[in-house]
Amino acid sequence: MMLAANLSRMTAGPAMTLWAQAHGSFWLPPQGSTTAGAVDTIFNLIFWISAFFFALIVSLLIFFVVRYRRREGVEPGKTASHNLALELTWSAIPFALVVLIFYQSVIVYMDVRTAPREAYEIRVIGQKWKWSFRYPNGYVDENLHVPVGEPVRLLMTSKDVIHSLSIPDFRLKMDLVPGRDTKTWFNAVQPGTHDLYCTEYCGTGHSSMLASVIVHPSGQFKTWLEGAANFLDTMAPAEAGELLVQRRGCLQCHKMDGSRLIGPSFKGIFGEQHRFTDGSSVLVDENYIRQSILEPSAKIRESYRDEMPTYLGILSDDEIDAIIAYIKSLK
Ligand code: CUA
Repeated sequence: MMLAANLSRMTAGPAMTLWAQAHGSFWLPPQGSTTAGAVDTIFNLIFWISAFFFALIVSLLIFFVVRYRRREGVEPGKTASHNLALELTWSAIPFALVVLIFYQSVIVYMDVRTAPREAYEIRVIGQKWKWSFRYPNGYVDENLHVPVGEPVRLLMTSKDVIHSLSIPDFRLKMDLVPGRDTKTWFNAVQPGTHDLYCTEYCGTGHSSMLASVIVHPSGQFKTWLEGAANFLDTMAPAEAGELLVQRRGCLQCHKMDGSRLIGPSFKGIFGEQHRFTDGSSVLVDENYIRQSILEPSAKIRESYRDEMPTYLGILSDDEIDAIIAYIKSLK
């Protein structure tokens, strides 16, 4: 982190740094994290080297085509077979540039990959097609809330296919792989909201697999987390259930208005008779809803497919009670 910060300080004055943090540049978004400046510096370094050589090579090409074109009545002269000095120069300069790019990139890459030991850890779970962020006190939110000016480590995994977490303002991108934990980290420089995307094509709902990063002002993150974690105690069960249905990804597949999505609608189902793919049927009650959440493959409703992931170990009993209360309230 130190080295990355030094690198961006070397190449940009404090006023430019502030401007870039708030507005970004012509083609890059605002620099929302402590490492964003160093990443941009390398991007700009590589970009301008490429632009310079593109211009040089294309202009020489055009110049040579015009200057040495074949003319009527002029015999082609003898061509030089080699020129040692020239060949050494055009090998040494690119070699030096590549070593420079490698050296700068390794320094920044090490910083971006290595979280400070004291970092605040948030568990990230990706699943089709929803993000879940679990805080150290067990609270889960569908958006990523973080304190400003503190290193935050994301410990990530996927429930189904490969997803990829990307926060462009933080210059951050890391895959989530089923059955494996991946890590990344950042330190947000100012309070505000940033976009978070899935950048690995993961199926039908990929483009709607979005979340926000909310950077809380100094000292306010703890208060927010305590307040948010208490919602089961402070709200009526049906209201808490509605919040859970929004937060835990149910809405990616279920609608509340009677129309079908990937799964059936929840509207008015309590007390209905449902038929299943194996020909059996059951009355929708508390036990059936609980089983559908914990063992979704046990009973597959007729004309639907076995697609729902289990919420066993993800939703607590109290949370499932709240969701049942909400489904009951949908008349
Ligand atoms: Cu998850 Cu794309």
